[in-house]
Order: sequence, then C-alpha cells, then structure tokens
Amino acid sequence: MRTAVYPGSFDPVTYGHLDIISRAAAMFDELVVAVVRNPGKNSLFSLEEREEMLRECLNGLHNVRTAVFSGLLVNFLRESGTGIVVRGLRSVADFENEMQMAAVNRTLLPGMETVFLAADSCRTFISSSAVREISALGGDVSAFVPVCVLKKLQVKYGSLV
Ligand code: PNS
Repeated sequence: MRTAVYPGSFDPVTYGHLDIISRAAAMFDELVVAVVRNPGKNSLFSLEEREEMLRECLNGLHNVRTAVFSGLLVNFLRESGTGIVVRGLRSVADFENEMQMAAVNRTLLPGMETVFLAADSCRTFISSSAVREISALGGDVSAFVPVCVLKKLQVKYGSLV
C-alpha cells in the first residue's frame, strides 16, 4: 500500500490544488491531503473550514482523505507511516522554495521523498493568495475555485461580482 501526503495551507483550496490531487490520487494507492495548522500565518479560513471545503471538493475520489497537522511535516509523515510528499510546481519561484523545503525535510527525515507535479499549463496562474485578494476586492473568482469554495468566500466577503 503506497500512501502519499499532499500538505498545504489550502486557504482556500483552488482548481490548481484539485488538479494536483486528482493526478496524485491516480499515482498512489492512498493520498492524504494534509491541512497545516499554521499559527504564524494569518489564515482567512480556520483550519476546520479549510478541511471542510477540501472534503466537499473531494467527493468521488475514493482513495483520497483529508487530515490536519500541526508542527513539522516530517513528524506528520512519521505518524502516518509514509515517506512520500507530493507538491505542485507552478513557476521558477515555486521551484526555489520547494527545492529548499524538500531538502530541509529530507535532512530531517532521511529517506523521505518529495514528488513534484508540474501544474497544468492552464492552472499556473492560480493561487490561494490571488483568490483571497480578488474576493476581498469584490472580483469574480469562479474561474479559480469550485462552487462550494465560492459560496464560502461569498459568506466571508458578501456578494461577489
Ligand atoms: O500551501 P503552502 O502554504 O505552500 O504549504 C506549505 C507547507 C504547509 C507544506 C509547509 O509550510 C510545511 O510543511 N509546514 C509545516 C512546518 C514544517 O515542516 N516546516 C519545515 C519545512 S520547511
């Protein structure tokens, strides 16, 4: 049984994340989408809201489940009994950060692997931070996030364009 972990903030989950999730789910027996409790970061959505939105979006993917974690990713990997992390790459900027994170994680947990999936070309511009900013300014993010997330954003910010 090959299990991989796809960790992230998912604040909120976007079509970019969902593309990585469906492709990674096809590569592994089980995929755990792990939402980080990030006390250092001012999240728009609570940990519970972020996980709930993910769950709503994952309907139909039988080998994907969600989890939450605090602290180091490598500790979550140890607890989960897996040494495989999946991350998406959209740009050179992503690449630099991700390479550093992969190297740090592999130093902390020798033998673990980070598998990078190149973002689909039509999704490279999607980011949670752009979704938050556009929504806060009253813009339409329906091209970036599924309807269940759109509804949550509408509740946070009032009606969107
Ligand atoms: O969606 P994000 O914000 O790019 O995800 C980043 C995440 C959650 C994968 C990363 O911040 C993380 O692994 N945080 C847990 C803390 C940790 O393990 N830090 C050491 C690795 S640099």
